Amino acid sequence: MAEIDSRLEQIPWVDAFNVGQAEIDLEHRHLFDEINRFVDHVLSKEANKTTLDTLITRMISNHKFHFIHEEQIMLRYNYSQLPAHAIEHRNLEARINEIYGEFTFTSPNNLDGLLDQSLTIKELILDHFLHYDLKYKSHLMNAQGR
Ligand SMILES: [Fe+2]
Ligand SMILES: [Fe+2]
Repeated sequence: MAEIDSRLEQIPWVDAFNVGQAEIDLEHRHLFDEINRFVDHVLSKEANKTTLDTLITRMISNHKFHFIHEEQIMLRYNYSQLPAHAIEHRNLEARINEIYGEFTFTSPNNLDGLLDQSLTIKELILDHFLHYDLKYKSHLMNAQGR
């Protein structure tokens, strides 16, 4: 469990995470709430396959909606890196589907395995936000004359 414990840090929302577009900022804040709720749940030691499944599937489906919405906003603001960003979304969805597939076939008795898979999904979503989403911040700010 030591390896899992080191992956359970809360990530507080900070103003610098705002990209300056209200709908997208709201969805990203919601993502952070979901991630922190997930971490709280694992820390509570009450997690089992059913509870993890509920939280992870909600995070995945909300994110599919968010990716599409984010691409629509990027299109609206003529973001030149939209094609590459959309490919990154599709790659991420494929990787997450693969891990979620492994999760569904993992025994409920293998809690460490289930935690590892669900934490990996959470980390992939968070990494995308930190490494890709924040890159379009200056473009959106400029496009809105800020
Ligand atoms: Fe995003
Ligand atoms: Fe994105």
